[in-house]
Amino acid sequence: MARILIQGGHSLKGSVRVSGAKNAVLPILAASLLAEEGVSQIEEVPHLLDVKNMANTVEALGARLEWRGSTIRVDARHVNSFTPPADLVGRMRASFVVTGPLLARFGEAIVAHPGGCNIGPRPVDLHIKGLEALGATSVVENGFVHMKAPAGGLQGARIYLDIPSVGATQNIMMAATLARGQTVIENAAKEPENVDLANYLNAMGARVRGAGTDIIRIDGVDSLCGATHAVIPDRIEAGTFLVAAALKGEGVYVENALSHHLMSLIAKLEEAGARIEDRVDGIHVWPCEGGRMKPLDVKTHYYPSYPTDMQAQIIAALSVAQGTSTVTETVFENRFLHVAELQRMGANIHIEGRTAVIEGIERLSGARVTATDLRAGAALVIAGLIADGETEVHGLHHLDRGYDNLVAKFQALGARIERYEDVEVNV
Ligand code: EPZ
Repeated sequence: MARILIQGGHSLKGSVRVSGAKNAVLPILAASLLAEEGVSQIEEVPHLLDVKNMANTVEALGARLEWRGSTIRVDARHVNSFTPPADLVGRMRASFVVTGPLLARFGEAIVAHPGGCNIGPRPVDLHIKGLEALGATSVVENGFVHMKAPAGGLQGARIYLDIPSVGATQNIMMAATLARGQTVIENAAKEPENVDLANYLNAMGARVRGAGTDIIRIDGVDSLCGATHAVIPDRIEAGTFLVAAALKGEGVYVENALSHHLMSLIAKLEEAGARIEDRVDGIHVWPCEGGRMKPLDVKTHYYPSYPTDMQAQIIAALSVAQGTSTVTETVFENRFLHVAELQRMGANIHIEGRTAVIEGIERLSGARVTATDLRAGAALVIAGLIADGETEVHGLHHLDRGYDNLVAKFQALGARIERYEDVEVNV
């Protein structure tokens, strides 16, 4: 079983370049299914398990994909199915966003209901409700969501999202590009990844306005054509390096990071005592005094508030802060599983409802720990980098879903970190 070994306490310095955003490329690959003409070229694509899953899903539907380094060429002209393989969708809930494109292009979609995961039940009721508002019917049976457009095709509508769901906004936006008339999505998710998706859709010939605000207008068109698009940098990968560098070292330059995607995190790191400098094509960060943050009160919420995907990482950092901090998780119901692992490293944290109360200690101690979700894995790596002694991180399949070459990137910054792929020996 693969594991990461970290010798804590080594200084981080130098520069690291973040890859393209996982949470932008996934909906963009789904959107490529809308192109009845032409070929798409998606650039700056990270090599991640989730991306591979989505690429396999799109290919299974009949698209022809060709990888060239970090570029994928997608020819969706011969897509001939609206039923992605259940095992692929079941493996990654984000695949559910192929529903909107398939419904728009073929008038039908039969997609496995994604179910929940470690961090919460992860319902898709808002996706279904939004697509029904466009005229589709839906039946959920045998673990599948079966959606059908009316005979004349989807019809634009005014849709209010009870929650600014990232995925629901994406599914509705994509379906609306080929609906008749105008669709207005109110209380839409404002994440940069949704803006990136809208930019790609518009490059394909769609008419999407207002992405990044809470009101998105989509005027339906007859058809879409493949387009070339470079994916935005991954703000969560960038944030992960910023947090690590705020704790340890002589200053790190996170290249390709966009500070306007990270305002809330940067504000918190500066409040904690780190020094941050916004450069032309990246962000420079110098550590807090003595490598220990001032205590913080953090509350995750929808963008542009502090991101839930950076919650585990800041808890790891605040475990050695100079006082008591609180981190409140308002987005997901069960996203504190990494706390038990940090406690094994000596962290003094207790949970009160949706709030983690963290009493900062001098230093963590290395231990054998297991990642429970993608961002928890990143938090445990950060904890290992600052802990005394050796930390062994397991559960790397979570990390591999969202971090492209994380170990190599930290090695380049001077960390003593190695990955071992233990070969199963059948004796
Ligand atoms: C996206 O998930 C991201 N995933 C998540 O990143 C991220 O944590 C999340 O947005 C919030 O920012 C991808 O983009 C692939 P939501 P998504 O729909 O779209 C509730 C990572 O680590 N909800 O915005 O699934 C839901 O239960 C991952 O990269 C409904 O109630 O998130 C949650 O409480 C983890 N009904 C809240 O909304 C619905 O129909 C936000 O979920 C949909 C969502």
